[in-house]
Amino acid sequence: MKIHVIYGTVGGNTKLVCESAADVWVSAGHEVKFFDVKAPDAEASVDGDILVFASPTYGHGELEPHFEKFLHELGNIDLKNKKCAVVGLGDPKYDKDYHLESIKIISDFLGEKDAVVLHMPLRISKNPLPLIEQNFVKRWAEKILEALKQ
Ligand SMILES: Cc1cc2nc3c(=O)[nH]c(=O)nc-3n(C[C@H](O)[C@H](O)[C@H](O)COP(=O)(O)O)c2cc1C
Repeated sequence: MKIHVIYGTVGGNTKLVCESAADVWVSAGHEVKFFDVKAPDAEASVDGDILVFASPTYGHGELEPHFEKFLHELGNIDLKNKKCAVVGLGDPKYDKDYHLESIKIISDFLGEKDAVVLHMPLRISKNPLPLIEQNFVKRWAEKILEALKQ
């Protein structure tokens, strides 16, 4: 299957997390393509069988700004029954009302679009490197593959 990872990042963490997940999907024989929302190509990015939406939280509980713009551009695109997965990054040092809000914003967007969200969103709080090293991200990526079989 074609898995399209649509990501926004400022410091690079989100891309690192998605690359770790992508290793699992590529090993399982899937074709994975990355789409950076700074160079948006909304129509091409949604042309995958599975769409992975990945954004850190910035501002006060907001999406990475390019990601927000990108979702806005997707406004008229039909995502009904499209299989999707959600990755959100944040840091608990921000007020709990703002912590990991990117997950909520993306999930609400996909809910409005009647998309199908596979498994639980991947929540990365604080530094993602230990979670990558401990295979936490890879285990989540495997859950996505399991959800696809159901
Ligand atoms: C200026 C700034 C604002 C942030 N605001 C939030 C926030 O409101 N909520 C949250 O959970 N994390 C917040 N974060 C933490 C980032 O989401 C986190 O560091 C993330 O790993 C960054 O991902 P990136 O390297 O892909 O850009 C903020 C970080 C910075 C630098």
